[in-house]
Amino acid sequence: MSATLTQPTPTSATWMPDSWRSFPVKQLPTYPDATALSAVEERLGAYPPLVFAGEVRRLRNHLAQAGQGKAFVLQGGPCAESFGEFKADIVRDTFRVLLQMAVVLTFGAKVPVIKMGRMAGQFAKPRSSDMETVDGVSLPSYRGDIINGPDFTPEARIPDPVRMETGYFQSAGIQNLLRAFSRGGYANLHEVHRWNLGFVKRSPLESRYRAMAERIGETLAFMQACGIDAASSAQVDETEFYTSHEALLLPYEQALTRVDSTSGEWYDCSAHFVWIGDRTRQPDGAHVEFLRGVRNPIGIKVGPTSSVDDIRRLTEILNPTNEAGRITLISRMGATKIEEFLPPLMRAVKETGRAVTWLSDPMHGNTISTQQKVKTRSFDAVMGEVKGFFAVCAAEGVPAGGVHLEMTGQDVTECVGGAHRLTEDDLGDRYETFCDPRLNAEQSLELAFLIAEELTGKLSARG
Ligand code: PEP
Ligand code: CO
Repeated sequence: MSATLTQPTPTSATWMPDSWRSFPVKQLPTYPDATALSAVEERLGAYPPLVFAGEVRRLRNHLAQAGQGKAFVLQGGPCAESFGEFKADIVRDTFRVLLQMAVVLTFGAKVPVIKMGRMAGQFAKPRSSDMETVDGVSLPSYRGDIINGPDFTPEARIPDPVRMETGYFQSAGIQNLLRAFSRGGYANLHEVHRWNLGFVKRSPLESRYRAMAERIGETLAFMQACGIDAASSAQVDETEFYTSHEALLLPYEQALTRVDSTSGEWYDCSAHFVWIGDRTRQPDGAHVEFLRGVRNPIGIKVGPTSSVDDIRRLTEILNPTNEAGRITLISRMGATKIEEFLPPLMRAVKETGRAVTWLSDPMHGNTISTQQKVKTRSFDAVMGEVKGFFAVCAAEGVPAGGVHLEMTGQDVTECVGGAHRLTEDDLGDRYETFCDPRLNAEQSLELAFLIAEELTGKLSARG
């Protein structure tokens, strides 16, 4: 990968990083100052890439494994990162909880867990409505810190292109920290497993959680006794950690798209994995056109309004050579809908013989509003959707490739339920999200235990 722009080889006759501009586009802000926008795009276009093509290809191969049931994906992080939370502790805590969850899931799934943060670039948000109204005052909606500000003032809501540059530098800082944590001894398995099992004491499932935690501890102790420890094995001391975000803000994604000098192919170097959201996945739309030409692995959110025809077209447009690992379909149906809506889609994709990796996003179909109009999600609905996903995968004979979660390493109170039995009355205590409600550190770890238990049950049922 060269840091300077070399003469590009287009992926197809017509695709170019800017060819999306002649397609209908949804969810993009209108910048009032076109000159300022071009200046930022030009600067970003000359900055170094945030990820390298070789890493992206490695992830694509791992995702292909997950599509065949030989690996399991754990993708997680906040709904929206915020510029105000550009702090080492916040990144560290989310990274640590993801690693802890990965240990638990590895134990359950008995296959390698691919760790991917919704981090280091998850700044742009699609909105259901262009306007937000509070006490009779209407202002443009907040679209994520890389576009405008969350304060409910006319000034804050004006899209400012300079925010893209801030987003780039913050992503670079977070990516750097994640690389250091992954390689610098912080990911040592024997340390990671010193988790906070505070939730266990309050859970009716205490004995089950404890039994699993003890078995994991014994396994690690056994490995250590055999001489497999941080000093002797990179697998114990280091981890691979990938970054991902929704490829929503196309001017930003375009500016970070580079030609890989070893293969001559285009890569979106803003993250290893990028996905298209439920609101921007139109087969003839700008987002699909943009992603068609970059070689990163691509996620596509699949919701209750997705049709078989759309998914067929999307997989053909985005993966004409049917390469395994290129497409990850992320089901986000809702706990009560998944068993009705997912089977026909999964079956149809299977019938086309198209290689895909299926993940469950048990968050976005389970957002509810309390009487006080606070957005929340119930832990039970989240787990219910994961169980539904596993059941559908088993019935359709399709590997369950992993999960995609909105979570944080902080002790927030945004989702109800879990072992601490958070209620709607508790939500006011530490409700800190800038967008959707996240599982807190304990709820995330508890979910990992429950998923591991499901996976273990499935393994013993198979064996
Ligand atoms: C998200 O992942 O934050 C999101 C907006 O999801 P979806 O596009 O599935 O609604
Ligand atoms: Co969200």
